[in-house]
Amino acid sequence: MTRTVRFHELGGPEVMRLEDVDPGEPGPGEVLLRVEAIGINRAEALFRAGHYIEPVKELPARLGAEAAGVIEAVGPQVAGFAAGQAVSVVPAFSANDYGVYAERALVPAAALVHRPADVDAISGAAVWMPYVTAYGALVEVGGLRAGDTVVINAASSSVGLAAIHTALRVGAVPIAVTRTGGKRRRLVEEGAAEVIVSERDVSGRVLELTDGRGAEYVFDAVAGPGVTDLASAVAPGGTHFLYGALSGLPTPYPGFDLGMPALNLRTYTMMETTRDPQRLARAVAFVTAGLRAGAFRPIVDRVFPLEEIVAAHRHMESGTRFGKIVVTTG
Ligand SMILES: NC(=O)c1ccc[n+]([C@@H]2O[C@H](COP(=O)([O-])OP(=O)(O)OC[C@H]3O[C@@H](n4cnc5c(N)ncnc54)[C@H](OP(=O)(O)O)[C@@H]3O)[C@@H](O)[C@H]2O)c1
Repeated sequence: MTRTVRFHELGGPEVMRLEDVDPGEPGPGEVLLRVEAIGINRAEALFRAGHYIEPVKELPARLGAEAAGVIEAVGPQVAGFAAGQAVSVVPAFSANDYGVYAERALVPAAALVHRPADVDAISGAAVWMPYVTAYGALVEVGGLRAGDTVVINAASSSVGLAAIHTALRVGAVPIAVTRTGGKRRRLVEEGAAEVIVSERDVSGRVLELTDGRGAEYVFDAVAGPGVTDLASAVAPGGTHFLYGALSGLPTPYPGFDLGMPALNLRTYTMMETTRDPQRLARAVAFVTAGLRAGAFRPIVDRVFPLEEIVAAHRHMESGTRFGKIVVTTG
């Protein structure tokens, strides 16, 4: 038996309970992981509340798609991984199938990345989701290049910060958008070329900063009614990625209101990257090179013990964070 977070009904953070559950034996393509640290992801709050893009199929349900730990046992048909190896887990599976909020958990080997000896468990749990999400959209799908401008909202989120670093890594210009004036200085320290403190009317400032051209990319975690303003700051032929829905409000399609510009408006999830082995391999190579060069680093906001998982989710939902929330099992 192993301590595992489950929820028996949909709702707020308080529905999560720490229970003794048998993790089971690893089946074909699976490993049993001794979990050391867990990365907390907004999608988990949405899944728990019944608002995620994928509904909860069965209760009680588990949570968690990002972790670092050590492999305890390997199932049949697993190549490249062995018991005793330190690994990270990247989100590459349905929350209805696996959950890593536990001291030990089954995970598919296809979601594992080897963890170098100099990467501790907290860093190993915090680093992959943000960088793979940003890389997959901006570089793999978008083709972000040196000199391009990218507007990044919810900039203090773990993905927003990774997008700033990713833009800098390829020589592009990151413009950060935050609702919170108190985060400006730290966003500049993380490399934002400009910080716009606003939830609305961002486009005027972006057009000013780009000499009227607009930004080649908008990397939008907020969506909702603000999409029309942000889309009006996209350069002709540019791409507006919608990868989150933090506003919680309906998102209009802005193309007609804006006079049918050459606008690519595209939804994106990191599963496009993590469920394609070749794309995942390219993402791992890009992120690993960035980490080795010191250009990428996990920015950890706060660490909670597993017993305080409810507090960890409450902290996520407070919107006060700067970087990644991590939960440890030790
Ligand atoms: N598509 C994918 O594959 C994928 C993968 C991972 C995450 N995501 C999405 O990426 C986003 C960031 O995730 P995360 O886990 O790094 O951080 P997060 O906890 O979702 O975001 C934290 C930041 O978002 C901003 N924010 C929070 N609520 C907001 C609201 N109602 N309106 C506008 N901004 C709000 C705040 O930043 P400021 O104070 O700076 O404004 C806050 O510090 C989420 O939307 C998540 O669902 C998508």
